[in-house]
Amino acid sequence: MGIEFNKETFRDDYTFKNSPAAVRRFPFPFPEDDYMYSVNMEPHVPGRKGSVFEHTFDVDEHYLAEMRDRELVLKSDPLRCQSLPHMTLAGWDLLELIMESKARDYPHWFELHKSGDRWTWINRPMEIEQSFTFLKDDTLPYGPLEYITRQTQGDFTLQDQRDNTLYIDAGTVTTQADWSLDFDVGMAFHEWHAPVPLAHNMGVFDRALKFLLKLQLGSPVRRFNWTMTVDPLLDTSPENYPKWGPSKTTLTMDTIGKRQHLRVELQTLHRLPRSNAIAFPIRAYLASFDDIVTMPKWGRRLHRVVRDVHPDLATYKGFIRNRDLMVQWLSQYDDGKPTSPGWWPEPE
Ligand code: HEM
Repeated sequence: MGIEFNKETFRDDYTFKNSPAAVRRFPFPFPEDDYMYSVNMEPHVPGRKGSVFEHTFDVDEHYLAEMRDRELVLKSDPLRCQSLPHMTLAGWDLLELIMESKARDYPHWFELHKSGDRWTWINRPMEIEQSFTFLKDDTLPYGPLEYITRQTQGDFTLQDQRDNTLYIDAGTVTTQADWSLDFDVGMAFHEWHAPVPLAHNMGVFDRALKFLLKLQLGSPVRRFNWTMTVDPLLDTSPENYPKWGPSKTTLTMDTIGKRQHLRVELQTLHRLPRSNAIAFPIRAYLASFDDIVTMPKWGRRLHRVVRDVHPDLATYKGFIRNRDLMVQWLSQYDDGKPTSPGWWPEPE
């Protein structure tokens, strides 16, 4: 597997870009020409070779650059990683899940050697070799959650299950779509989802929670979420709003193709073995509108979705202001032809 890791930035000069191969494997989130919230969960089983579903945790060309960005965010705001005291065991569970998965799926990059509870972890891309005692906190340079999420793409939250609900009691969140771990930490499932429009009345959250409370060890599930981001900025946090909010006012017909990004989250949910907590990795993928329209089916479909999506969703997702401009630009790529079902770029 000869991926070259990109040298790129997600801030300042924004040198982030997708290779043609990364565009082809981009998880375009729309299986149909329209979109509404639903309980869109399916088993997280290995998918097509080369796709973002091939492995439990996808490692791609952006790995090292994303880890560098996380390091910068944590340096300027350490509260982006928090773990309430009772969640340390869940952090170890997550560390084990990630290390075992990556060593199994990418043996040329990652190795895990165990001798009883003495473990050695090798992360070749990041040039890390670390020996430690499993479940012994003071043998790692950070807590287990922070240690492993500084080496794994995507945000992570850990939910404690009690009182028939889930509590967001730990997480590392540096690449989020306008929500704050510091604000949400300690909240229950319906509380942290309170700002979402329409879905509560549709019963989406009642059904999703009921399903999650029964999630079984070894049977993870996945779902997509999506939003829009101007410029390839990973850290679109409320804490950082003054830095990215105003960028929405500067898009034009000439710049939108390059600057407007569809931001897709591949979210997975895993029951953890010792803590009985649920891990929620939120892996974000960015593609510019220019990238998207290289796949004719995606260009047509994105035009129709953005044009027709409920205004409350466009407002919540933060792009109502630029919706007309997006539709105008995307319409150049919609010839009115039908699209095939499913999200793969072309029919099989
Ligand atoms: C247990 C793990 C989960 C966590 C930690 C989580 C967390 C969040 C957070 C923090 C938000 C943003 C809320 C805000 O505006 O402040 C959100 C949005 C949302 N969540 Fe979840 N969520 C979880 C599971 C789910 C599941 C299983 C569903 C399935 C239906 C779901 C559906 C949604 C939807 C539809 C939105 C609105 C997203 C958008 O339009 O951009 N969530 N979630």
